[in-house]
Amino acid sequence: MISIKTFLGASVLAFAAAGTAQAAKLTFYCSAQEDWCQLMANSFQDATGIDVAMTRKSSGETFAQIKAESANPKGDVWWGGTGDPHLQAAEEGLTAEYISPMRDQLHPWAISQAESAGNRTIGIYSGALGYGYNSDLLAANNLPEPACWEDLLKPEYKGHVQMANPNSSGTAYTTLATMVQLFGEEGGFDFMKGLHANINQYTKSGSAPIKAAGLGENTIGIVFLHDAVAQAVAGFPIKVVAPCEGTGYEIGSMSIIDGSRNMDEAKQFYDWALSAEAQNLALQVNAFQVPSNKGAETSPKAPDMSQIKLIDYDFKTYGSSDERGRLLKKWDDEVSVLPQ
Ligand code: G6P
Repeated sequence: MISIKTFLGASVLAFAAAGTAQAAKLTFYCSAQEDWCQLMANSFQDATGIDVAMTRKSSGETFAQIKAESANPKGDVWWGGTGDPHLQAAEEGLTAEYISPMRDQLHPWAISQAESAGNRTIGIYSGALGYGYNSDLLAANNLPEPACWEDLLKPEYKGHVQMANPNSSGTAYTTLATMVQLFGEEGGFDFMKGLHANINQYTKSGSAPIKAAGLGENTIGIVFLHDAVAQAVAGFPIKVVAPCEGTGYEIGSMSIIDGSRNMDEAKQFYDWALSAEAQNLALQVNAFQVPSNKGAETSPKAPDMSQIKLIDYDFKTYGSSDERGRLLKKWDDEVSVLPQ
């Protein structure tokens, strides 16, 4: 028979163990829109009891942070943001290989992102690039309605166009890489230089230019079309333009950080984030991307990708460490320094 002394001793030990046990936690780096990031963090926490600490930063900034922390990784999972910096992180070994049991529920474009990166990243959504404009401001300034990329170079739009900085923002890097693919390297850089003359501000975050347009603080914002649709749906006078020459697109991605201290939780998040149920949360926050799970719902308000002239965006090349680094340096050296 167990003596009262032994029983008490065991209880004290059990209590001490419970007192020192760490609650399960997850450090979540997020590069999608802020309210979607928050909803993902809270919903995962509610579903699993895992404590989530979320930070939202743009795609290029998060890439730089993960690289800077690589000797002593602080993050566990990186969800959202354009695929190019996720591919670069994979190539540089900053993210970990993982094959999720959820993979067979995904569209082929999401899986090929994984396959081209040694399974160190995967597609979670997609969306086409373009721009939006504030139709009230355009009319008030007697400006013509733009329909093509080339239109944005017209001198009358001087000071009316905004985009993000391609170093910090995946949206803006997608813009740069799209121009190089549409017009060739020389033509693409000529376009970026001409555009520079009309830019009123390079923002840090990709969607900021269209939010500013919604508020009447800017006229034209170069963004993903779904970000422009979100402003229109919110009631702002924003018109959405899929440029006539054709356009690039993103495969928004997710990666587990190499050396994660909470690898089990990171995998749990990863599997959950690929489920139709988790991807449907997008509808609650007006995130109009196309989800990667074949069973998830695409909002009827989402831009219809089949009606947009899409280029065959070369993710492997433009997400490579050499090419992304080279193009950003060239933009810094030859475009950003030009007078306006
Ligand atoms: C917005 C878009 C996302 C995109 C992200 C990139 O949140 O809705 O589809 O992936 O921007 O953000 P960034 O600030 O890096 O351009």
